[in-house]
Amino acid sequence: MAQPLTIEDLRILAKRRVPRMFYDYADSGAWTEGTYRANETDFAGIKLRQRVAVDMTNRTLASTMVGQPVAMPVALAPTGLTGMQHADGEILAARAASKAGVPFTLSTMSICSLEDIANHVGKPFWFQLYVMKDRDFIARLIQRAKAAGVTALVLTLDLQILGQRHKDIRNGLSAPPKPTIANLINLATKPRWCLGMLDTPRRSFGNIVGHAKGVGDLSSLSSWTAEQFDPALSWDDVKWIKDLWGGKLILKGILDPEDAEMAAKSGADALIVSNHGGRQLDGALSSIAALPAIVEQVGGRMEILFDGGIRSGQDVIKALALGAHGTFIGRAFLYGLGAMGEEGVTRCLDIIRKELDITMALCGLRDVRDVDGRILVKGRA
Ligand SMILES: Cc1cc2nc3c(=O)[nH]c(=O)nc-3n(C[C@H](O)[C@H](O)[C@H](O)COP(=O)(O)O)c2cc1C
Repeated sequence: MAQPLTIEDLRILAKRRVPRMFYDYADSGAWTEGTYRANETDFAGIKLRQRVAVDMTNRTLASTMVGQPVAMPVALAPTGLTGMQHADGEILAARAASKAGVPFTLSTMSICSLEDIANHVGKPFWFQLYVMKDRDFIARLIQRAKAAGVTALVLTLDLQILGQRHKDIRNGLSAPPKPTIANLINLATKPRWCLGMLDTPRRSFGNIVGHAKGVGDLSSLSSWTAEQFDPALSWDDVKWIKDLWGGKLILKGILDPEDAEMAAKSGADALIVSNHGGRQLDGALSSIAALPAIVEQVGGRMEILFDGGIRSGQDVIKALALGAHGTFIGRAFLYGLGAMGEEGVTRCLDIIRKELDITMALCGLRDVRDVDGRILVKGRA
């Protein structure tokens, strides 16, 4: 492919270059994948009002997310195993984000560690926390995030237990891949990926191995993860984490207005309307369908952020028009990373920026902060 022009172009290239088990890990949802598909397709039913003969000069996409300036309201979402889409993937994605002036969020389940990002990127970043039963480990992780200069903590609430993704089971997902015959045959067709991996020491869960008790090697890690995610997580734990962290707190994975109400009462700075990219509760509403009721419930009281199904700048502007203050992208940047490393993430962000800018202009606006429900055709949202 000469020049990827869309996120779909990047996806096709990533599928060619990334080993099957990691490509499938990104491009999959829970069970029937119905919610995963709806996250994307529900955007298509929302129609924009085209305006003409309005001044389109001097446009700006600059905004804020949890009070921090952003070049456009699009952050990179936390994604596990990003360093398996491409060697040193988290470092490369964080660099691309910092050059583009948007936040990068490191997952608890990343390959590169908090310290790796702090040492190799040098710009502040955000950190996503999963709550494990081992509260000492969580307390230490929060201290490490502080020491690494993290400026916002994203606490994920929708993964107390793991939704089943069939492809991961069939592929025997592990990091790094086990040397089975099927894996070796597949890896032989991905020479770039293999060379990159041979060249980096980062091939396992950098935030965890060597830091959590009883996790010295990878074979014990998968069972440790299944055992350690805390199914008893509660709003009291949210308070404990909020107090321990003391900085900007974003609650991720809210899909229901009643939970949004609890989130608002918790005193967190923001919530992310999210169904984990359709990877958890199959049969749940798409994120974009869930957004308006949450905005109505708590919109005036806390910042509403959004993720799920964004594959273009048009999708970003639709989420903003329905009341999101900012958005996150997951797979869009992972496809860029798998396709072309740092350059691919930069390309992804360029594509979305350009689409957002032109769409905003054609809707008759010049400042992204002015985007609201007026740009939507009524009765179609
Ligand atoms: C491969 C992959 C791994 C993910 N890992 C995490 C994670 O470790 N922590 C988390 O809070 N969310 C995780 N998510 C969910 C994303 O943060 C985000 O909610 C989702 O990707 C948004 O949907 P989109 O991919 O359609 O943009 C993951 C998503 C994907 C695709």
